[in-house]
Amino acid sequence: MRDPDHHPIRSKGHHTTRYYVHRVRESLASRLLKMVCSVFITLLFVLGVVAFVLWLSLQPHRPRFHVHQFSIPSLSQADGFENAAISFNVTVRNPNQHIGVYYDALEGAVYYNDQRIGSKSLLIFPFYQPPKNTTVIADTLSGASISIDSQQWARFMDDREQGKATFRLDVTSTIRFKISTWLSKRDRMHATCECRLGGDGLILGSWKDKRCPVYFT
Ligand SMILES: *[C@@H]1O[C@H](CO)[C@@H](O)[C@H](O)[C@H]1NC(C)=O
Ligand SMILES: *[C@@H]1O[C@H](CO)[C@@H](O)[C@H](O)[C@H]1NC(C)=O
Repeated sequence: MRDPDHHPIRSKGHHTTRYYVHRVRESLASRLLKMVCSVFITLLFVLGVVAFVLWLSLQPHRPRFHVHQFSIPSLSQADGFENAAISFNVTVRNPNQHIGVYYDALEGAVYYNDQRIGSKSLLIFPFYQPPKNTTVIADTLSGASISIDSQQWARFMDDREQGKATFRLDVTSTIRFKISTWLSKRDRMHATCECRLGGDGLILGSWKDKRCPVYFT
C-alpha cells in the first residue's frame, strides 16, 4: 500500500535536490549573464572613448590667414586714384595634421568702411591644400578690378593724414575638408584682414603679420 508519508518525503527530498541544482544553475547563469553584461558595458565604454577621441582628432581646424603686406602706393598723391593699385600678400595655412582642404573659386575683395572698392578672383585657385601646408596669396588689384571715385579718394587722404586709413581685405571661398577619402560638405569661409596704412601707403608695421579672423556662413 502507499505509505502516506512516503511520497511527500521522497517528493521533498527530490524537490530539495532539484531545488539546489536549480539554484546552482541559476547562480551560474546569472553570474555568466553578469559577466557578459560587464564585458559588454566595458566594451561599449572603450568604444565610446575611442569614438570620442577619433571624433576630436577629426574635427577640422579652420585655415589660418595672416596678412604680411598690403599697400596702395599712390595713396601719397592727391590724384592717385586714377592709377591706383592695391597689392597684398596673405598667407593661408592648413593647420590640420591629416586633413586636406579644397578651395573653390577664391576671391579677394577690398573694402573701405564696408564699401567695396575692388575685387578680383585669385588665380591660383581652385586648389587642394595638403595638411600642414602654407601657401602665399599675393596679388594686385588695378584697372578694372578697382572702383574708387575722387570723393572716396579724398576721404582716404583725409583719414591717412589722421593716421586712421584702415582698409579691409576679405578673402572668401567655399571650402571642403578631405578626411582620408571622405569629403565634407561645402562651407563658405571668410577671412577678414584689417590693414591700416601709413603716409606712404604701406601697411603699418604694427598691423603686419597679423592673424585674420576666419568665420563661416
Ligand atoms: C609674402 O609673404 C611671405 C611671408 O612673409 C613671404 O615668404 C613671401 O615671399 C611673400 N611673397 C611675395 C610675393 O611677396
Ligand atoms: C603647398 O601646397 C601647394 C599646392 O599643393 C604646393 O604647390 C606647395 O609646394 C606646398 N608648399 C609647401 C611648403 O609644401
